[in-house]
Amino acid sequence: MLTIMKTASLIVVLILALTFCLFAQTPNYGQPPQGVALTPPMGWNSWNKFACNVSADLIQQTADAMVSSGMKDAGYEYVVIDDCWQVSRDANGNVQADPQRFPNGIKAVADYVHSKGLKFGIYSDTGTLTCQKRPGSRGYEFQDARQYAAWGVDYLKYDWCNTSTQDAPSSYALMRDALVATGKPIVFSICEWGKNKPWLWGGQVGNLWRTTDDIEDRWEGLHKWPGGSCCSYGMLDIVDAQVGLETYAGPGHWNDPDMLEVGNGGMTNTEYRSHFSLWAMMAAPLMAGNDLRSMSPEIKEILTNKEVIAVNQDKLGRQGRRVHKEGDLEIWSKPLADGTRAVILFNRSKEQKEVMAAWEDIGYPAHLSASVRDLWQHKDLGKFTGKFTAQVPSHGVLMVTVKP
Ligand code: GAL
Repeated sequence: MLTIMKTASLIVVLILALTFCLFAQTPNYGQPPQGVALTPPMGWNSWNKFACNVSADLIQQTADAMVSSGMKDAGYEYVVIDDCWQVSRDANGNVQADPQRFPNGIKAVADYVHSKGLKFGIYSDTGTLTCQKRPGSRGYEFQDARQYAAWGVDYLKYDWCNTSTQDAPSSYALMRDALVATGKPIVFSICEWGKNKPWLWGGQVGNLWRTTDDIEDRWEGLHKWPGGSCCSYGMLDIVDAQVGLETYAGPGHWNDPDMLEVGNGGMTNTEYRSHFSLWAMMAAPLMAGNDLRSMSPEIKEILTNKEVIAVNQDKLGRQGRRVHKEGDLEIWSKPLADGTRAVILFNRSKEQKEVMAAWEDIGYPAHLSASVRDLWQHKDLGKFTGKFTAQVPSHGVLMVTVKP
């Protein structure tokens, strides 16, 4: 009898310990803003091209260009001012825009963007100061969120500079609560560079979360920041850092491998096509980062390729993954809502190479006959059984759909 009782109490203790461990390891931070970013957000952000050189004129001209270039028609929606729009707080703590650069204030800019049928986004920081030492939102979360909502802000990018010992998930959850309390749907973009594994908690707090340090406009290579700390990322370094994070993404909550560099001049058009295809494949937010007012026809064609964008915006919301790698040759695959697969044959090498996508690698049986369509040539390539093989240029992709 004594042994039975001992065993029973041991079991109870074990169950309690297990329950405690489970709950202790998965704190509940709530829910991200609802009903927004059900597909990866698309838009434009000022930082990659303009850094602190932002103004009302730039934002208004960019909104105009987004419409006239066909980007709006292709699905781009948010026009986001990054760091440096803000200069101080007034005696009541209200954040003030730079009066020289935004002479009529932020609401006038937001109204202009809205008048073009677009949405408007802004930037702040979780800490006391932004990365460019402008006022951050720490201690002003609810006041700032109310101000943003009154201006008509639809999207907030929230950075992580000057945060001292702040706890990331709860600091971001605080601003999330402030945004939700406004009653206005505002996309919440978490930008803490992947430092606190945001893929583990970001889906409870925000609609997208940066997974790495900043992208820079080059094919590959980590470069130290001017102060000596590590590092800005080349495009390929960002791609490699996404492997393993696929399951954390889904409608309303996305991994964010940072904004696009397409059109900024540091890569070839072939490389930019790869960059854009891979971002589409990874269900990444598509935030253009170039000067939309002066794009070449080739860059416009890349950014507005509707077939590639359809892969990114597919309603199933699955992040594509690298399913095969042999040295510099890779196959990426993304299941789409209609059962089709989007597939990238990627050649990272310095020479043109033959690349083969085997049906078994993309989750189809080998005997299956399937139609292959080239999403850059906009051309049906025919029916293939078991595999599809093609010549792929150096640093290039062939991006196709494979439909059984
Ligand atoms: C970085 C952020 C960049 C940009 C910049 C502005 O922390 O990753 O995307 O927002 O701050 O200072």
